[in-house]
Amino acid sequence: MDGMTSVYPVQVIAVASGKGGVGKSVVAVNLALALAGLGRRVMLLDGDLAMGNIDLLLGLGAERTLADVLAGTCELGEVVVSGPGGIRVVPAASGMRSMVRLSARQQAGLIHAFGRLAEPLDVLVVDTASGVDDSTVGFVRAAREVLVVLCDEPASIADAYALIGLLNRDYGVSRFRVLANMVAGPREGRELFAKLLRLTEQFLAATLQYVGAVPWDDNLRRAVQRQSAVCEAFPRAKSALAFRAIAEKVDGWPLPANPRGHVEFFVERLIRAAQAKSA
Ligand SMILES: Nc1ncnc2c1ncn2[C@@H]1O[C@H](COP(=O)(O)OP(=O)(O)OP(=O)(O)O)[C@@H](O)[C@H]1O
Ligand SMILES: [Mg+2]
Repeated sequence: MDGMTSVYPVQVIAVASGKGGVGKSVVAVNLALALAGLGRRVMLLDGDLAMGNIDLLLGLGAERTLADVLAGTCELGEVVVSGPGGIRVVPAASGMRSMVRLSARQQAGLIHAFGRLAEPLDVLVVDTASGVDDSTVGFVRAAREVLVVLCDEPASIADAYALIGLLNRDYGVSRFRVLANMVAGPREGRELFAKLLRLTEQFLAATLQYVGAVPWDDNLRRAVQRQSAVCEAFPRAKSALAFRAIAEKVDGWPLPANPRGHVEFFVERLIRAAQAKSA
C-alpha cells in the first residue's frame, strides 16, 4: 500500500430506472454538478457499461475507459477526466457488457485501482443502464442510496415498479428514493410519486421516499445538444433550479458509517453482488 488508500466515508448514489430514456443520465450529470456547486467533491461513474453516454452528454471526448484499467494498460487515475464544475468523471467501458464477466484478477485490479485513487471524495454518483441487467443490479446493491427516476408514462411507472419489485424481493433492497422527471410541475411530480406508492404499498415491503421533481424543460434539451449540463449552460433554467433544490436535499442524506463507506468497499460489494448472481 502506498498510504493513499481512501479512509473517509463516501456517499454512493446509484441512479436507476426501469424504462430507458427517462432521464437517468441527465439526472446523474446534473445532480453531480449541483452537488459540486454545494462544495462537495463529486465523482460520476458511468455505470451504463455497454451504452454509456456521460462523456457525450458532457462533451468530454474520453479516450480511455474502465476497460483499459481492467486490461491493465492504464491506471484508474488516467481514466478519470475532469468535467464541468470540478466534477471527476469515470467514462463507461463500452463493450465490457457485465461485471459478472470480470475475471478474479480483473476484479482485484478494479478494487485495487479505486483503493489507490489519491483524490478525496464526498460523493460517488453512479449512472446505470436501464432495466434490470446484472451490472445495474450490482451497482444498485453496492450503493448506499438508490435513486429511481421515472416520468409520467404508464410504461415508466410499470417498469419502475418492476425494478423496485425485483430489487426488493430478490435482492433485499428495502429503501428507494424517487425522482419524477419531465413533469409539468411540482404537483404532477407528487401525483406521479403517489401512483407509484399505491402500487408498491399493496405488494411490497419497500420504503419509497420522494426526492422531488424535475420539470420538462426545453433548455435542458438545448443543453444536451450542446453537450453540456443544463446546470452549467443555463443555470437559471427551471430544470437547473430543480436540480439544485434536489441536490440540497441529497446533501442532507445521512452518510454511511465507516468502514463500508470507503470507495473501495463500494467496488468490493459490487463484485460480491455480481458473484452471488452468477453463482
Ligand atoms: N427534464 C427534461 N426535460 C426535457 N427533456 C429531458 C428531460 N430529462 C431528459 N430529457 C431528454 O431525454 C433524453 C434522454 O435522457 P437520458 O439519456 O438521461 O435518459 P436515460 O434514462 O439515461 O436513457 P438510457 O436508458 O438510454 O440510458 C435526453 O437526451 C434529454 O433530451
Ligand atoms: Mg442513460
